[in-house]
Amino acid sequence: MDSFLIRGGTRLKGKIEISGSKNSALPILAACLLANGKTTLKGVPRLSDIDSMAKLIGELGCHVFRHEPGGAPQPGADGQPPMPALNGPLDIEVTDEKQCEARYDIVKTMRASICVLGPLLAKRGRAVVSIPGGCAIGDRPVDLHVRGLQKLGAEFRTENGNIIGEVRGRLKGCRMYLGGAQGPTVLGTINVMCAAALADGETVLVGAACEPEVVDCAELLIKMGANIKGHGTPEIRIEGVDQLVGAEHRIIPDRIECGTFIIAAAITNGELELKNCNLDHLIAVVDRLDEVGVKIERQNGTIFVSSSRRLNPVEMTTQPFPGFPTDLQAQLMALLCLGDGMSVVTERIFPDRFLHVGELNRMGARVRKEGPTAIIQGVKEMQGASVMASDLRASAALVLAGMVARGTTRIDRVYHIDRGYEKIEQKLAAVGADIQRVNEK
Ligand code: EPZ
Repeated sequence: MDSFLIRGGTRLKGKIEISGSKNSALPILAACLLANGKTTLKGVPRLSDIDSMAKLIGELGCHVFRHEPGGAPQPGADGQPPMPALNGPLDIEVTDEKQCEARYDIVKTMRASICVLGPLLAKRGRAVVSIPGGCAIGDRPVDLHVRGLQKLGAEFRTENGNIIGEVRGRLKGCRMYLGGAQGPTVLGTINVMCAAALADGETVLVGAACEPEVVDCAELLIKMGANIKGHGTPEIRIEGVDQLVGAEHRIIPDRIECGTFIIAAAITNGELELKNCNLDHLIAVVDRLDEVGVKIERQNGTIFVSSSRRLNPVEMTTQPFPGFPTDLQAQLMALLCLGDGMSVVTERIFPDRFLHVGELNRMGARVRKEGPTAIIQGVKEMQGASVMASDLRASAALVLAGMVARGTTRIDRVYHIDRGYEKIEQKLAAVGADIQRVNEK
């Protein structure tokens, strides 16, 4: 199993290219099940989760082909190795529509597998999807997905750990409320929107998620021939069509990767130039970091990040988009561990998402949890230690803390980070971080 060894204390300086968005590419790959003909996707990152989704839709009768990357490699920082042009386009073509089952072995590795439920029901009238199990970040039911698809006319039962859905005839559009106790559901909105694209009549999704990933999927569906309005707002209108055809689409930049690198610049008191970013996708993040004292300037698709040594304490509560994303909560906490005073972080989306707290405290942080809230007493310095990655974003927070801690930090189980960050140690090393991947049998 791979681990990272990080020697802290270097200021990051240089350019990093942001990859395409994992959380946009995953549901979009599932949405390709809806189309006749070939879809070509650009900017799909190379990640283990993407490989899992490609395997899943492959088992569901899709031919998936990744072209070799084209274009010139990116120059690395002074004397650092050049960065290869990231990725070639991905072609996806449905060649066989007999299969309807998403097996446990794949679903257990990646919850986003649930995104095939809507497209399978709409296009093939049947779906057997293993119920996603427990998750390190907390309770993650899929009841809103099922309820939304039921309202379109699908019938469901659960059997031997599987959700089995069937449609008699065609799905039928209707007006529905899709919100839950913690607010809107991102993948739930996309799942129902995909199904409604081929339903009979109009569907109105009220309480829909407004995340950029929802908009990106809607944009692809529209290129495929769907009739969708209001995506990016809490009310999405979908007029069903008889068929969708393959299209070409570029995946949006990964706003969570971008946010992670912005915080990397701030925590190391560095200066980074981040390419291929959309700051409108991070407006609440910029707001909080501005309060902390991080300077973020943008020029076209590039942003320049620098920070003062003094980090102000702040309060932050995670919220659905455009609020502060839960997927950057752990990374911001790592930064606030070095704040000049007491900060308060409240997690409203996944109230138990605090597995990073114990590990940060092992590195000398002073974080106390009270229910869905963490109180962070800033410290002057953190120390390197051996720590354990527990989930994707918690592991990113440990990498950030390791880069500023005194001495060496060893992070085990970095397979968690490979699920959502493309070549993170290479990107960070290219701007001066002392980080290496080690593999011990
Ligand atoms: C997406 O998950 C992201 N995953 C998550 O990122 C992200 O944390 C989350 O949205 C919130 O922004 C992908 O895009 C692959 P939700 P999703 O449904 O759609 C509750 C990462 O680190 N809920 O919006 O599964 C749920 O428990 C991952 O990249 C129900 O109660 O999240 C949560 O409290 C982690 N019933 C809230 O809604 C449902 O049927 C929001 O979850 C669905 C959700």
